[in-house]
Amino acid sequence: MERVLITGGAGFIGSSLAERVLARGDEVVILDNFDPFYDRRFKERNLAAVRATGGSRIRVVEGDIRDRAACKDALLGCDVVVHLAALAGVRPSIQEPARYMDVNVTGTQILLDEIASKQVRFVFGSSSSVYGGRTKVPFCETDLVDNPVSPYAASKRAGELICWTWHHLRGNPVTSLRFFTVYGPRQRPEMAIHRFVRDVENGKPLPFFGDGSTRRDYTYVDDIVTGVLGAMGRSDGCEIVNLGGSAVTSLTDLVHGIENALGKKAILDRQPEQPGDVPVTYADTSKARALLGFQAKVPVQEGLTRFCRWYREERARGGVL
Ligand SMILES: NC(=O)c1ccc[n+]([C@@H]2O[C@H](COP(=O)([O-])OP(=O)(O)OC[C@H]3O[C@@H](n4cnc5c(N)ncnc54)[C@H](O)[C@@H]3O)[C@@H](O)[C@H]2O)c1
Repeated sequence: MERVLITGGAGFIGSSLAERVLARGDEVVILDNFDPFYDRRFKERNLAAVRATGGSRIRVVEGDIRDRAACKDALLGCDVVVHLAALAGVRPSIQEPARYMDVNVTGTQILLDEIASKQVRFVFGSSSSVYGGRTKVPFCETDLVDNPVSPYAASKRAGELICWTWHHLRGNPVTSLRFFTVYGPRQRPEMAIHRFVRDVENGKPLPFFGDGSTRRDYTYVDDIVTGVLGAMGRSDGCEIVNLGGSAVTSLTDLVHGIENALGKKAILDRQPEQPGDVPVTYADTSKARALLGFQAKVPVQEGLTRFCRWYREERARGGVL
């Protein structure tokens, strides 16, 4: 049995990962400060499900990754660290770049500093946003990533770089995973799919940025978690790996997919493109396949149908949405 520290484990991806780690019989420690970027009640709900799966094999430390004592406490006896704690919004990062750098960069460095054992394997939650405004697709790990177009993207690239330096100096195994737009049950409430489903369900106009031609590689959360579990098993070297669905969906098709899944028409509130947004994301996942045996399994329409089903069940339960 291993002990896995998941920073940001009360959030969307972290809590989904925690459940899978617990289900396979390992122990989980969660370090999360319940950052108010979105309502704490979402995270409490996520943790209730995690606790139901884990029983006594789950420990939650409410604390900040920038607090060395909290990191030390959470790291006790851990074999693997999956670092997902971050400020995760692209657009808000333009308003508060310094805070994003503080949490996502300095916080990552502090967490790394506090890992005493050279045996601990480290997995870093990076992002497809590091590819910036590239239009040449698919995105490959060997592409140049010197032009991030938001402070969030720059903070994730900086995180990858300091992970590399830490590996070089300390020797611990490291995998930085570039997640491509993740969606599914528990998705953050401000993310496009969650917001669109909420608006269509409530008969409200949904904010539709640009002409609908921007394209994203959407990745279902179960597939991402499978990829993270693969990376957690790696025991040497330092690698950067894309985790994506390897298919692109335009904004227009995404809205159609949601309409299909809900059986309702969307009302579009057309707005100009937003600064920091990129025209396309599309993952080349051949490295993930070779290194982690990764293959995304859930096609977008199926994932949207699952998300909408979850949304309606939550709503019927009176859950926070
Ligand atoms: N969701 C996506 O599409 C996506 C895409 C690419 C990368 N990522 C990355 O994956 C990770 C998880 O994303 P998510 O969508 O689950 O976001 P999330 O906001 O649901 O989860 C992040 C968690 O980190 C916690 N946190 C924030 N600041 C902290 C701090 N200083 N100390 C301790 N905990 C802190 C938050 O409270 C939250 O629970 C993030 O690093 C994000 O940048 C997500």
